[in-house]
Amino acid sequence: EQTGKSGYAHFMLKEIHEQPTALRQGLSGRLDELAGQVTVDELDGLETPTTVQFVACGTSYHAAMFGVETLRTAGIPAQTFLASEYATGPPPIGNETLVVGVTQSGETADTLSALREASARGAETLALTNVVDSTAARECDHVLYIRSGPEIGVAATKTFSSQLVALTLFSAALVDQRGEESRERVAALRALPSDLQYVLDESRTADVVDAYLDSAAYFFIGRGPNYPVALEGALKFKEITYEHAEGFAAGELKHGTLALVTGETPVFAVVTGDDERARKTIGNVKEVEARDAPVIAVTDGVAGVEQYADHVLEIPNTHPQTAPVLANAQLQLVAYHMANRLGRSIDKPRNLAKSVTVE
Ligand code: AGP
Repeated sequence: EQTGKSGYAHFMLKEIHEQPTALRQGLSGRLDELAGQVTVDELDGLETPTTVQFVACGTSYHAAMFGVETLRTAGIPAQTFLASEYATGPPPIGNETLVVGVTQSGETADTLSALREASARGAETLALTNVVDSTAARECDHVLYIRSGPEIGVAATKTFSSQLVALTLFSAALVDQRGEESRERVAALRALPSDLQYVLDESRTADVVDAYLDSAAYFFIGRGPNYPVALEGALKFKEITYEHAEGFAAGELKHGTLALVTGETPVFAVVTGDDERARKTIGNVKEVEARDAPVIAVTDGVAGVEQYADHVLEIPNTHPQTAPVLANAQLQLVAYHMANRLGRSIDKPRNLAKSVTVE
């Protein structure tokens, strides 16, 4: 087993470090930088749907939330559903609704049930998966492979990053976007593997977690495409550290959870870009800072959150749709190093399985 880890202490750490390669594989042959266009051959037979419904579980559900955001930006209405809820209470399906199952393994029972339910109701289905010839890949009308390579660690890492990239490609391919904005996104996608390598090489997470080993709980906040990153940061943290962590849309804190915020609850704030969302998230950072919470900002430096943070985990400045991939890598390392310091079973956390094949 040690050989399979290529010298890394855990599969999870190995897979975190494999992400630049995984993303190169996912992007290979799918970007035309000159034209600023994305080509995904697998989607050739797919008509642009009027609406998209995502079904997924766990980490893949967070990726699906990101998918909703990218499709909305592209002008296609989309919603995401927890697969376990969809199967027993499906929403109305319109004439040209595409139902997309986001599932790394392609074998998650809840997701398969939701896709079967959608299919039985006449929807066209697409599997966004990592595993060639998996059940989801075989049963859906269309397949989009994320090309991450095998993932052994129970905690999904590189497959989440690959899902985010595949969903960005998916939305760009569906609406055939062109022009300056599209060229900028394609250039950011092209640079993403090396930007991610930079984050992995330079990350200071191992030092930062040492300051917070005995905290009461850990909160993660973000807005827009950084909201699913906050949720995923908290899920990863819970899975492998066994510590209490929660992710929130930054604006929701003041609607209840702020009551839990004290000097014993570090808040990881994902703040990128220079826009309304970043400014509002900084407002939320000030709210927790005023309650003595330590703040760890995951930021590209553009947002200007540094002055309110106790620690900063930097990412390179990039496109709004690629920044979440970089921010997430920092949070993966936060969870990993915290779990390692606490001596947890990182690759096989208690009570969890890599693929959940029961409903
Ligand atoms: C994430 O770290 C977990 N392994 C889990 O939440 C997982 O994402 C979920 O069970 C869905 O799995 P899938 O992508 O294979 O469908």
